[in-house]
Amino acid sequence: MIGSKILRFDVLESTNDFAKLNYESLDQGTIVIATKQTKGRGRNNKTWKSDQGNLYFSIVLKEDISLKRLFRYVSITSLAMVHVLDNCGIKASIKYPNDILVNQKKIAGILIESAGNLTNLNYVIIGVGINVNQTSFNELSERATSFRLETEKQCSVDRVLLQFIHHYNMLSEAEYQNVYDDYISKSIVLGKKITYDDEEYTIRSIDMDGVINLENGLMKKRVVMNEISLEELYD
Ligand code: BTN
Repeated sequence: MIGSKILRFDVLESTNDFAKLNYESLDQGTIVIATKQTKGRGRNNKTWKSDQGNLYFSIVLKEDISLKRLFRYVSITSLAMVHVLDNCGIKASIKYPNDILVNQKKIAGILIESAGNLTNLNYVIIGVGINVNQTSFNELSERATSFRLETEKQCSVDRVLLQFIHHYNMLSEAEYQNVYDDYISKSIVLGKKITYDDEEYTIRSIDMDGVINLENGLMKKRVVMNEISLEELYD
């Protein structure tokens, strides 16, 4: 269960950094939200530009935080976003592991951060950035979109957050097999090609623990989430 406590800030450097620094004192499921971030971070050490008008929040997870369950959180978070969008009449898909796309443009991104060993993680923080009211993306305009651009209406960031919390909590209580099946049905990467370790592979499947299975005529490879970037996908 998430969202029983919501900590709101006008400005933070990064909600993930705040959650990490204060992890010990924050309760399971606390959401840390900021209107703006000055040092928002994305995956692969990229900057996440975080001006006012969009949603930037982090979820503090303390329940069952083992490496084995990490992909469960990835799929629940991604699907919760897809369901929120669906409720607004926007059809979205998931680019493994956790980019949310509408008509191939990114509308939301998820940065899961954790540390620890194979059996026990010290912390798990899920950072979510959702483009809500942004209408211009400059050099990213071919690759990014927002709720506002898709619906042509001003959207309430609080409503999007509350809907996200609702869907996240519903999915957390569902059978994981159903969540996983739903995640796979929304995933756009299966059958696509990528270059990995200088070899071309086809993405064959994603296991329930998030391991991705690659194959070419000569080799099969199993790769974990953090070891692969699917930025350059092709048919
Ligand atoms: C991505 O690269 O797609 C992930 C972007 C995640 C951005 C969010 S915004 C809230 C949280 N705080 C951060 O600094 N990053 C995440």
